[in-house]
Amino acid sequence: MGKQPESESLTVRDNRTGKTYNVPIVNNTVSASAFKSMSAPKKEGERDENDTEKGLRVLDKGFMNTAVIQSEITYIDGDAGVLRYRGYPIEQLALHSSFLETAYLLIYGSLPSKRQLHTFETEVMHHSGAHSDAEDFFRSFRYDAHPMAILTSAFSYLGSYYSEANPSLQGQTLFTKRDPASISNMDKQIYRLIGKATTFAAMAYRVRQGRDFVTPPTGFSYTGAFLYQMDHLGEENYVPNPVLEKALDILFILHADHELNASCTTVLQTGSSLVDPYSAIAAGCASLYGPLHGGANEAVIRMLISIGKPENVPAFIEAVKRREKVLSGFGHRVYKTSDPRSFIVRRTADEVFKVTGKDELLETAMALHDAAMKDEFFIKRKLAPNVDFWSGLIYRAMGFPLDFFPVLFVVPRVVGWIAHWRQMMLQEGGVKIWRPRQVYLGSGKRDYEPVDSRPDAQIAPSPVVHSGITKRTNLASFKGKSKL
Ligand code: CMC
Repeated sequence: MGKQPESESLTVRDNRTGKTYNVPIVNNTVSASAFKSMSAPKKEGERDENDTEKGLRVLDKGFMNTAVIQSEITYIDGDAGVLRYRGYPIEQLALHSSFLETAYLLIYGSLPSKRQLHTFETEVMHHSGAHSDAEDFFRSFRYDAHPMAILTSAFSYLGSYYSEANPSLQGQTLFTKRDPASISNMDKQIYRLIGKATTFAAMAYRVRQGRDFVTPPTGFSYTGAFLYQMDHLGEENYVPNPVLEKALDILFILHADHELNASCTTVLQTGSSLVDPYSAIAAGCASLYGPLHGGANEAVIRMLISIGKPENVPAFIEAVKRREKVLSGFGHRVYKTSDPRSFIVRRTADEVFKVTGKDELLETAMALHDAAMKDEFFIKRKLAPNVDFWSGLIYRAMGFPLDFFPVLFVVPRVVGWIAHWRQMMLQEGGVKIWRPRQVYLGSGKRDYEPVDSRPDAQIAPSPVVHSGITKRTNLASFKGKSKL
């Protein structure tokens, strides 16, 4: 590598010491590690825990401006509302591609030829069957278990079947070696994860309906097979509605990746310890479920139900402005204009409503959208609809239960997580464990005091209500301790 031109650098003067440092700028980034060399002597009376002599730390709560990886997968321009997978605009992919073709693109970097696509589709579908023991696993959940609890556990459970995919058993370089046999082993796990994502999601659905499980069918598209696995009740020649199948395929393309969101970061952070990919995907699933992320599509519908009708929208908007409510489905860490996916979802919704009939909440959603887009509070903060604002309405119109919406987000996002995981495992120079630093503001050193001479601690655990104890138990008398 040639010498860095001086203009491509940042000059930092540390006013504590008067020293000047030159930090190279590469691809519009500076290395946080460069700040580690900027140390100063500890000041009189300064806390030891500040570690001043060990170099400056870069504090970025919530990763507001920290890049943690170099990536070639997804590009977002949040100001212009641009989203591209491997350079292809999301609008073109939604219009022309299929979910598995887009999956290939995200994971392997280019659009496949017809032959390559056929092989990939065949492998994914070939790996969609679940071991018959999985039926017991799915049935072991409580009757009203949230499907995300089931699915998150299911990915972890799946890993227990494949000892050949576990670096703890096979050696820690299992996925970082970059030789053909290791890459082939990695790709097999990728087929399994994508293939079984729909099967497990469908099983989580069926177990709660009290339906028997079905074997994944052949001759269907990825989303067609998913619909079949959820809905088939033994009818002859069952074929899902093509409009719904296509709509789901488009939604899956839109949800397949979104660069380093919370769940993808979780997958990479977990994967950076070189754990098996099943555990990393289970961690991503858990992260996605929060209402600030993939749980937002469910939250939008609950919000719309609570608003009820368009006449109640102004009062709701005022409550948001008083900070009593959150307008779910609005705002984004990266987009400071409308999320480009939201336009495609809105168009897809119209196609779906032609088949299913309009959702009764649509008018309330439109009134809420229009009111927010005109209101100074939202304009000033650059809050616009994100992908979740409209997607929940489609899922509702298609008859999915509310708590299944985040599952419909996870299934396609497995692809994005895997693409990033694969890229990280195979990156030049191997994988470094993601171990951030903290700024310690707690106590300085203090000495242990025996329990008899200690005062009450400043904070005690809160008292809790023992819901298992009935009035009758409280009125009963017994010897010894209660278990509850
Ligand atoms: N309703 C009301 N106020 C909001 C909203 C909202 N939906 N989103 C942001 N704000 C306000 C926020 O209170 C803050 O105001 P102020 O500066 O006066 O304190 C300002 O806008 C900036 O918001 P922020 O919370 O600092 O922004 P962030 O980048 O940390 O959070 C977000 C992004 C998506 C978590 C947030 O916009 C949000 O909570 N939205 C609702 C949940 C949602 O729809 N999530 C789905 C995101 S898209 C799909 C996905 O990633 O899964």
